[in-house]
Amino acid sequence: MRLAGKTALITGAARGIGRAFAESYIAEGATVAIADINAEAVGATAAQIGAHPIVMDVTDQASIDAGVAEAVAAMGGIDILINNAALFDLAPITEITRQSYDTLFAINVGGTLFVMQAVARQMINTGRRGKIINMASQAGRRGEALVGVYCATKAAVISLTQSAGLNLIAHGINVNAIAPGVVDGEHWDGVDAKFAAYEGKPRGQKKAEVGANVPFGRMGTAADLTGMAIFLATSEADYIVAQTYNVDGGNWMS
Ligand SMILES: NC(=O)c1ccc[n+]([C@@H]2O[C@H](COP(=O)([O-])OP(=O)(O)OC[C@H]3O[C@@H](n4cnc5c(N)ncnc54)[C@H](O)[C@@H]3O)[C@@H](O)[C@H]2O)c1
Repeated sequence: MRLAGKTALITGAARGIGRAFAESYIAEGATVAIADINAEAVGATAAQIGAHPIVMDVTDQASIDAGVAEAVAAMGGIDILINNAALFDLAPITEITRQSYDTLFAINVGGTLFVMQAVARQMINTGRRGKIINMASQAGRRGEALVGVYCATKAAVISLTQSAGLNLIAHGINVNAIAPGVVDGEHWDGVDAKFAAYEGKPRGQKKAEVGANVPFGRMGTAADLTGMAIFLATSEADYIVAQTYNVDGGNWMS
């Protein structure tokens, strides 16, 4: 019960890693609100795991403000935020569209920044110390030939984590990030399908390849990430500021 008495807001938690974070936080005693743009899925997931559902589009300021206010009203405040919502896309540099660029930056970077801002303001106004965890990626550590925009968004998340971490620690708010490697689930099923289209591979082959290349010997699972997400939310992590931790089976070292 390492999070007993704590409240957490987790974005993009209708499925995948965010859902696993929510379940692990609830198991540790936290009260959790899950926010997602997918209204039907967030309602169903919340009912299944015992969380408070919030329909939120992290690209829309009014939706962020209403969603954060709803989380505060439902839980009495927010101690922990996980900025987890994100979208992936893939294309060679010569085929990247303006729409894909705008959408990915709006969700992955703008969403992270402005949800963080709204929650940090709330934490400061209520005099709470707080923990903010942003979801980066190994994609933010280096470019990839077909993944230019997504990689750039995740590099921006690492940079924002550094700036916000340095700025908000003055208010007792720790901002850190987790950089997963390749994590199996619906997200990667979609990634695999996009690689299949561009690289002419049969479905499932890209997943098999990336899994075999992980030093640990397989793709990650959402459960592989929950330990770090819990640790960063506890007082044991009070002295950790502006860091991005790789939880990737050994894919990246720095
Ligand atoms: N799966 C991986 O291999 C992997 C690797 C590295 C990093 N990550 C990161 O981990 C996080 C979770 O990944 P996942 O695999 O669970 O992804 P996912 O696609 O399964 O889940 C993302 C969730 O975000 C929601 N979402 C999308 N746009 C939104 C918006 N505008 N507003 C609110 N919610 C929105 C989706 O509805 C979905 O429920 C993401 O930040 C992702 O970039 C994932």
